[in-house]
Formats: sequence, structure tokens, C-alpha cells
Amino acid sequence: MRFDNQVLFVTGGASGIGRATAERVVAEGGRAALVDLDGDRARAVAAEIGHGCIGLSANVADEMQVKAAVDATVEQLGGIDLALAAGGHAEFGDIAEWDHARFMKMVEVHLGGTFWVCKYVTPVMKSRGRGSIVTIASTAAVMANNKNVPYGAAKAGITGLTRQFSLEALPEVRVNCIAPGRTITGMTAPLMVQRGGDMERGEEIFGAPIPMKRMGRPEELAAAICFFLSDDASFITGQTLVVDGGETIS
Ligand SMILES: NC(=O)c1ccc[n+]([C@@H]2O[C@H](COP(=O)([O-])OP(=O)(O)OC[C@H]3O[C@@H](n4cnc5c(N)ncnc54)[C@H](O)[C@@H]3O)[C@@H](O)[C@H]2O)c1
Repeated sequence: MRFDNQVLFVTGGASGIGRATAERVVAEGGRAALVDLDGDRARAVAAEIGHGCIGLSANVADEMQVKAAVDATVEQLGGIDLALAAGGHAEFGDIAEWDHARFMKMVEVHLGGTFWVCKYVTPVMKSRGRGSIVTIASTAAVMANNKNVPYGAAKAGITGLTRQFSLEALPEVRVNCIAPGRTITGMTAPLMVQRGGDMERGEEIFGAPIPMKRMGRPEELAAAICFFLSDDASFITGQTLVVDGGETIS
């Protein structure tokens, strides 16, 4: 029960890694505010999880929407002890296909969204004397993939943001980053079916370059995130942990 009576603020909480983390925090005694672009789904998932969880609508690229979600969480759940910035989308394409609006959306959602979450949850945590924030990068932050320049650049920015902000957030708040490899979520499932025809064949294709020969599960990412969120990581800040079945070993 590492999260007894603690409150998690999680963006992207309606699906995948964000949802799995909320479920793990609740299983260990906490409550969660699930914040998502898809507010209806966030509210439905919060109701499904139960245990006092709430769902909120916000676009993380919009500073004032993030602020409003933080304020609503404090008002409805009494504070914020833990935060996960997991809201985001994936888009691929040759650099020539990216115009200004498409590129800025990628940067504003991933790098900007992480920045606004850090900005608004930290004073709440500091006022309570403690807190832990986890940001989400990707293996794309540390290795090159095909047609993935804006996403990889935004994700590399998140590892830099985490390192820089971790210093400012001390002494009350720790800030760490998880860099997931290929994980089966709402983001990847359609691509898996598109490439493989079904999920099983899709995993064979997407799992092929991974030494473990499979993709990650959201629960496996949640386990690593909850390590950073918890007091088990009480002497760790500013770090990025790659969770990828060994894809970036070589
Ligand atoms: N699944 C993978 O293989 C993988 C690998 C590396 C990194 N990641 C990262 O993990 C994080 C979580 O993704 P996931 O795999 O769980 O995908 P997912 O699609 O299952 O969940 C992402 C959630 O973020 C929400 N979202 C999208 N844009 C948003 C916005 N602007 N504001 C608020 N919410 C928004 C979506 O509605 C969705 O519910 C993302 O940052 C993603 O880039 C995923």
C-alpha cells in the first residue's frame, strides 16, 4: 500500500499507460484524477476504477486547461501528491510532410503538456511538503526510428526538461522520466492491426526488433512509473529509465 491516501494527477489517464498507472495507484491505496482530451472516456474509466477517482477533460497543450484540471483536482480530491504526464499522440512522416501547425502540435502536446503539468502540480506538492512527478519520453528520445523526427525531438526534450526541472523542484519534489519502448496501448493497437492484420501478428512484427521478442504491457510500464512515484525511489531524481524489453541495449 505504497500510495495510501495519496492523490495521483494523471494526463492521458483515459487509456494505456496512464490508465494502468491510475489502476496500480488505486490498488495500492490511492485515488486518481484521470485527465484527458477525451473527457467522457476519462469520466467513464474513473467510474469503472471507482475508489473515489474522478475524470476531467483537458488538452495538455493549453496552459489554462491544465491549470483548471489541477485546480479541480485539488478542490475535489483535496490535493495532489503524485503526477504522471502521459497525455499524447503519435504521428509519423518524412520531414517534408510536416508543416508548422503539425510540428507545433507535436511539440506543444508532448513537451509543452509536460511543462504545464510540472508548472501547476509542483506548487500544490510543495505546499504539502512532498511530491513525485513522472514524465514520459520514449525510446525515440535515445534511438533513431524511421519518419519519427518531431516525436523523437519532443521526447528528447522531455528528458532534458526532467533533468533541468528536477533541480528546481527540490527539496520537496522529485521528478523522473520513463522512456517506454513499444507497448500495447490505444496508441499502438491500430498500427499493429494495420500492419499485421490482427493483434497477434501485429505483435510479432512490432516485437521482432525487441530482444524479448514481444511488446510491453501497460501494467509493466505502470510498475516502473510507480517505482519512481513511490518512496522506493526516495533518493532518485532527474533520471530517465528506459523500459523497452532490451530494444536499446545495442
Ligand atoms: N505505446 C507505446 O508504444 C509508447 C512508446 C513510447 C512512449 N509512449 C508514450 O506514452 C504516453 C502514453 O501513451 P499510451 O501508449 O498509453 O497511448 P494511449 O493512446 O493509450 O493513451 C494516450 C492518452 O492521451 C490522450 N491524449 C492525447 N492527446 C492529448 C492531449 N493533447 N491532451 C490530453 N490528453 C491527450 C489520449 O486521448 C489517450 O487517452 C504518450 O506520451 C506516448 O507518447 C508510448
